[in-house]
Amino acid sequence: MNTAKIIFERLWKDYLQQNPEAKKIYDLLTDEGENVQNDHIAFRTFDHPKIDIDVLAKPFLEVGYEFAGNYVFEEKKLFAKHYEHKTDKQAPRIFISQLETGKFSEFLQNTVKSIVRKLPDELISSMELLYAGNAWGKPSFKIYQQLREESEYAAWLYVYGFRTNHFTVSVNALKKYNSLEKLNAFLKESGFTMNASGGEIKGTPQQLLEQSSTLAGKLPVQFEEGVYEIPACYYEFARRYPDQDGKLYNGFIAKSADKIFESTDNTK
Ligand code: NI
Repeated sequence: MNTAKIIFERLWKDYLQQNPEAKKIYDLLTDEGENVQNDHIAFRTFDHPKIDIDVLAKPFLEVGYEFAGNYVFEEKKLFAKHYEHKTDKQAPRIFISQLETGKFSEFLQNTVKSIVRKLPDELISSMELLYAGNAWGKPSFKIYQQLREESEYAAWLYVYGFRTNHFTVSVNALKKYNSLEKLNAFLKESGFTMNASGGEIKGTPQQLLEQSSTLAGKLPVQFEEGVYEIPACYYEFARRYPDQDGKLYNGFIAKSADKIFESTDNTK
């Protein structure tokens, strides 16, 4: 039994339920006869030792993944690791980032400590954490707004908790839309808004990785103070190029990912 597959199916189901736009894009591409494969899926967390990258990575290590790279995002004060499956080369890469809370205000640090305190130990030690969503209870809109002043990432995570932040279509596996230029044009014609921060396409063929993403659609969220619409998750697209030895590049480009993180910013 391939348990990695079971994890992904459950994450995918949750993600589609929460992101009707991703479902529409997936359906559009499959209607065009495309085989939609995942390049990578991404998670966000805080660097608190009870819920940090290593804790979220555990279920993946147990089903055959191994550590494959570290990334530093100085401006956004994030650190990330990526994992690859040891034997199944079709299995998506896993990208997990964490906010370096020590570099933020006491308010942010105390907020993180107080929400982590609300998590049951059984949840933290089980694989259910991956699917737990916001397991610390109804968020406060006031705290959300205050977190946004320091970090959109922290604010998003405070509201949504543990879930797949994005799935990523492998452009290499597409036939008709086999470049980001073609795919982005098709998505825009179909009415989707792309994240244009740093240009619609992040990265270059020379860097061996090009990425683009939709802007996260807004969803109504129940806060203590009432219902507000805020950005949810987004869908990403990645095209990888072979290196000089003809081996497909497997890593990530920090400068590009830095801009992709902004796909969940609550701008307008
Ligand atoms: Ni990504």
